[in-house]
Amino acid sequence: MKRSTIILVGSTKGGVGKSTTAINLALEGKNRGKRVLLMDTDEQATIDKFIRKRTTYLETNKISDIDDIESVIQRSNIPKFLRQNLDRYDWIIIDTSGKTSEEFVKAGLFADFVISPTTPCEADNDELASLQKILSQINTLRDANDVEALLCYTFMNKVDPKTLNTFFKSEKAKVKELLSNGDYPHINLMKQYLTYYNVYQKMHGGGYGVVETKDRAKGQFQVFVNEICEIESRINK
Ligand SMILES: Nc1ncnc2c1ncn2[C@@H]1O[C@H](COP(=O)(O)OP(=O)(O)O)[C@@H](O)[C@H]1O
Ligand SMILES: [Mg+2]
Repeated sequence: MKRSTIILVGSTKGGVGKSTTAINLALEGKNRGKRVLLMDTDEQATIDKFIRKRTTYLETNKISDIDDIESVIQRSNIPKFLRQNLDRYDWIIIDTSGKTSEEFVKAGLFADFVISPTTPCEADNDELASLQKILSQINTLRDANDVEALLCYTFMNKVDPKTLNTFFKSEKAKVKELLSNGDYPHINLMKQYLTYYNVYQKMHGGGYGVVETKDRAKGQFQVFVNEICEIESRINK
């Protein structure tokens, strides 16, 4: 059986959309017929709170929870847990906290790639430098174990559509230029970005993903997931 793809959602900042991305990615993966595990390593336990709300959502919509995503809170024994579960899922999606890099590093030793949300105002020098620092730390350890380098794909989240041709455009150009200067060997900028949509705020309390709504955020998120699938197939080659 094929081994799971381990997708780490990480950033050095909180509030940029890690948990939101992890949840929607998991639900879209499930829609595409994948066996998905959502792993919460953050003490904020956003995933856990979401899953509790989801029970009501599933009951109301008469969806069998057997077909649903599975989730687990795992703050210790991450390596052991991953080793034991590698055959059981197509995707293991790991949500990390922005506060400490501890889980990021631990999960990073096993992950296939990282996706990292950033927002147009925070996509700065300092943030990318601290992200690269963690990746370098992880990759020194991976290299010592003869494992290929972990690559990170960053994307802009909460983009204000009114700024597509102004602020967003210049921020994106800045990030692109920074990333091409050789100081960030493990970070790539994704083609897709995600717009600021109100449905992202509502989904946490409602226990559903934007990909389960008819909101315009759905189509955009699905195109975003297509890019993640392209990354996955490149890495698994
Ligand atoms: N694209 C988006 N549009 C609007 N709100 C968003 C978007 N992405 C995330 N949010 C909101 O931003 C807040 C922080 O998101 P969260 O996923 O919890 O961040 P993190 O896990 O990085 O701390 C939440 O209220 C979430 O609903
Ligand atoms: Mg979070």
